[in-house]
Amino acid sequence: MDGSDGGSQPLHILVFIGSPRNAESWTYKIIRQIEARMAEIQPVDFEYVFILDTGLPFCDGCLSCVNVGEHACPQFTIVGPLAEKMDAADGLILGSPIHTFAMTGLIKNFCEYFMYKRNRPSFFGKKAVVTATASGGGHTQVLDFLEGTASAWGCDVVTRLGISSTQLKKPRYLEKVDAVTREIAQLFIDEINKGELGSPKFGALMNFRAMQNMTRNQKGSVNYRYWQARDWLDAEYYTKVSISPWARMMAGYIARKMRRSIRKGNVQPYR
Ligand SMILES: Cc1cc2nc3c(=O)[nH]c(=O)nc-3n(C[C@H](O)[C@H](O)[C@H](O)COP(=O)(O)O)c2cc1C
Repeated sequence: MDGSDGGSQPLHILVFIGSPRNAESWTYKIIRQIEARMAEIQPVDFEYVFILDTGLPFCDGCLSCVNVGEHACPQFTIVGPLAEKMDAADGLILGSPIHTFAMTGLIKNFCEYFMYKRNRPSFFGKKAVVTATASGGGHTQVLDFLEGTASAWGCDVVTRLGISSTQLKKPRYLEKVDAVTREIAQLFIDEINKGELGSPKFGALMNFRAMQNMTRNQKGSVNYRYWQARDWLDAEYYTKVSISPWARMMAGYIARKMRRSIRKGNVQPYR
């Protein structure tokens, strides 16, 4: 993206809506508000995918995407074009309501179809925003899940937003939402226009190390070949972006401990 003039093409933002209420949902309406704020700054082209309408059945857990390749997914006719859309977008937004203090089954199921992208991430430099909508609470775990997922796919998660839909009739809350959507719009645009790779948070660094440990033990697999071709098997992170020395040292130390535990069979059952 050309940061000098904001780019001549509208920014293409792909949005996945995880509410079964589609365009009626607050999840959608709040993201439309972010869209409107972004459009005030720079031309944008938002594309909304209502996950309910994609027709994706429950992931059957065959793991073909991970072990054979994404093309082997029984639902590849649906998943493949969605992956192409994500590839082509300048930015991604993942939005989920909060149902029983978790993300909706719809968005969880959608993310399961992209499990392979956690093993073979590719969205480096792609900026993402994640949102969660509850009537009251449960935002943290949903935002953590969505951020962790987008980040494991390679995205830089620019920011996150949690909305309390029961408050949306109150003028004081609406004012705050207005201010925060303006801030998010500016941040999202600035980060996309900068076009720089983001420095990973510690969690992303540890996720990289865990995937690295796992992939090193999968010689001959599609994941191993993917990692080998990118020189990731002995790397400190997927990209050459600068990482704080403390985070790098801690991640390396924990990864070595994890490797030793796995080798010696010292892994404990979780209680
Ligand atoms: C099955 C179900 C479970 C819900 N669980 C919670 C919950 O755990 N916490 C909460 O604050 N709201 C909960 N809600 C309320 C929704 O989060 C709220 O209605 C929200 O606006 C839905 O988002 P949407 O408008 O984007 O569909 C639940 C709603 C449904 C239908």
